[in-house]
Amino acid sequence: MAVLVLKLLGLGYQRRLSLQFPNKSRPHSRGEYNVYSTFQSHEPEFDYLKSLEIEEKINKIRWLPQQNAAHFLLSTNDKTIKLWKISERDKRAEGYNLKDEDGRLRDPFRITALRVPILKPMDLMVEASPRRIFANAHTYHINSISVNSDHETYLSADDLRVNLWHLEITDRSFNIVDIKPVNMEELTEVITAAEFHPHQCNVFVYSSSKGTIRLCDMRSSALCDRHSKFFEEPEDPSSRSFFSEIISSISDVKFSHSGRYMMTRDYLSVKVWDLNMETRPVETYQVHEYLRSKLCSLYENDCIFDKFECCWNGSDGALMTGSYNNFFRMFDRSTRRDVTLEASRESSKPRAILKPRKVCTGGKRRKDEISVDSLDFNKKILHTAWHPLQNIIAVAATNNLYIFQDKVN
Ligand SMILES: *[C@@H]1O[C@H](CO)[C@@H](O)[C@H](O)[C@H]1NC(C)=O
Ligand SMILES: *[C@@H]1O[C@H](CO)[C@@H](O)[C@H](O)[C@H]1NC(C)=O
Repeated sequence: MAVLVLKLLGLGYQRRLSLQFPNKSRPHSRGEYNVYSTFQSHEPEFDYLKSLEIEEKINKIRWLPQQNAAHFLLSTNDKTIKLWKISERDKRAEGYNLKDEDGRLRDPFRITALRVPILKPMDLMVEASPRRIFANAHTYHINSISVNSDHETYLSADDLRVNLWHLEITDRSFNIVDIKPVNMEELTEVITAAEFHPHQCNVFVYSSSKGTIRLCDMRSSALCDRHSKFFEEPEDPSSRSFFSEIISSISDVKFSHSGRYMMTRDYLSVKVWDLNMETRPVETYQVHEYLRSKLCSLYENDCIFDKFECCWNGSDGALMTGSYNNFFRMFDRSTRRDVTLEASRESSKPRAILKPRKVCTGGKRRKDEISVDSLDFNKKILHTAWHPLQNIIAVAATNNLYIFQDKVN
């Protein structure tokens, strides 16, 4: 267990945030994206109490619902959450009375006429400014942040606790879940992910390294140590092995947009749960079942502790999650069809079409198949996102972000 807990602590990915939006000055060229803005969100810090360096790597990013022309997002490293405002400026004021264009104050005795400042167009500037810093509330590494549907509060979760914050208040948060045992030797599971319900602001879930999900209702008590629902699939005793507990650890949990279902990702599968049924998932999709026979080497090279994310498409009809060899998987819920695709430089050329890939599992390998043994386990797609309204996806493979979209007629 100790190994598992340690490995679950902090596997982050990127240091700088790069935002990509379609090039607005060429609205008809769909499918071409440029870097919109890049900024340093977190700097390395030092925790003096524990003599520990806090890396600048970013563990999670969450957008706030857009309310005006500016975009707001929360980003977090292991310990500190920041609220950023990203705004555009394409005009500047000229003709101030009291200062020159370069900002120097004018001599008041030489000001003889009243000038009315005017706005002059200028090159588009994208500014990222830190608005709030929420620090000092987590002893362990933050793995999740989730904005509430009330648009005023959000939660942050680390290995043992979940805290509730108000977006305007940085010096205070409320601890709403605490699973830290009095004696740390008794620790058997850690919190791996947490998310608010998309519509009910009193409901949130958190998943654990034992493969369970707890749903909590903040109306029933302020401290949600006692869950109101407990989702767990009974274990099949015939497939029990040394790796059972490790591969059942949930790396991500996401509510459907409708709020009726939630999806969980464990090492080998994606499961869809109906919030009204706690005893087993309503749908299970195998992501890369061919790895079951490779668990021993995946344990040796630490890959078994990789934390894959998963996501819904805009209308909850399809699911997506990542795999190795820069492969990612999509599942259609109504037809139960699935597809394996590959993110590569080749496939990201303009107008290139993604070809389905197949992994060969024993027996004869066909020409276009790839054998399990030649998969590259250093190339992995841990992060995936689906556009909320359109069929556009983003997948992150190590240092590259790939954006794919439906064929344009
Ligand atoms: C957007 O498109 C315009 C027109 O083709 C081009 O001049 C500009 O450089 C592009 N912007 C970026 C950020 O690439
Ligand atoms: C989501 O996926 C389903 C099934 O493939 C599809 O019918 C639907 O149009 C997709 N929704 C969006 C918004 O892309």
